[in-house]
Amino acid sequence: MKTHLITLAEKIKDLDPVDALRFFAEAYPGKIVFSTSFGWEDQVITHMIFANNIPIEVFTLETGRLFPETYYVWNRTLEIYKKPILAYHPKAEALQEMVNKKGPNSFYESVENRKECCGIRKLEPLKRALNGNKCWITGIRSEQSLNRNDMSNLEWDEQNQLIKFHPIFFWSLEDVKAYIKENNIVYNTLHDKGFPSIGCAPCTRAVREGEDFRAGRWWWEDQSKKECGLHATT
Ligand code: ADX
Ligand code: SF4
Repeated sequence: MKTHLITLAEKIKDLDPVDALRFFAEAYPGKIVFSTSFGWEDQVITHMIFANNIPIEVFTLETGRLFPETYYVWNRTLEIYKKPILAYHPKAEALQEMVNKKGPNSFYESVENRKECCGIRKLEPLKRALNGNKCWITGIRSEQSLNRNDMSNLEWDEQNQLIKFHPIFFWSLEDVKAYIKENNIVYNTLHDKGFPSIGCAPCTRAVREGEDFRAGRWWWEDQSKKECGLHATT
C-alpha cells in the first residue's frame, strides 16, 4: 500500500484541490465519499464538489446533538446546490439504551462515557458510511492541532481500509476564509463567534484569542484524550 500511496501522491502533487478531487473521483468511481460536519473547511470542499459536479458522495454524521446553526448551514447548502447530502444516524436501539441508562449528558461524567457516546453517535454510523468505499475525503488541515501537524494530505487508513485524502490540508485559516468570501459560500456563523472547530453542541465551546484551534472541543478532558476517534491517526 505504501508504494501505491507514493505513486498517487506523485500524481496529485501539482494539482489544485479541485483537480485532485477530480483525479480521485475518476480513480475510484462510485467508491469515493466526502464527510462534512458543515464547518468552513468542509463548506469549501462541498462547494468544490457540487459547483464542479464532481461525482463524490457527500455525507454527514447526524449525531442528533448538533448546533442549530449547523442545521441551518446544512439546509441552506441543500437549497443552494440542490444536491444530496446523506445523513447517517446512530442506531436507535443503542442510543436509547445509553440514554435510558445514563441520561442525555453522560459524556461529561467520564472519558469512558464520552467515548461511548462518540462511538454510538459517530463511529458506528461512520463505519456504515465508509463501508465498501475506497477513498475518504475530509476537511482536515495541518494547522488544526498539534497531532495533525505530522499527518500528510494522503494517508492509508488501516482501521477503515481505505485511502484518506485531505484536499485543503496545506491551507491556512486565512486561505479558507478568503475562498469562502470569494465564492460567497454559506458558512456556520459560530465561526465568527470564537468557534474555530465545531462539533456537537454540548461538547463544543468558543475559544479565547490565542488558544488552540481545538481548545473548545471536550474542554473538560485531559488534552491527550481529546479526539473522538473519527480520525484514528490524529
Ligand atoms: S473531529 O475528529 O474533531 O470530530 P473535526 O471536527 O476536526 O473532527 O473535523 C475533521 C473532519 O472530520 C471534517 O472535515 C469532516 O470531514 C469530518 N467530520 C467531523 N465531524 C463530522 C460529522 N459530524 N459528520 C461528518 N464528518 C465529520
Ligand atoms: Fe456525544 Fe459529545 Fe461525542 Fe457528540 S461529541 S457524539 S455529544 S460525546
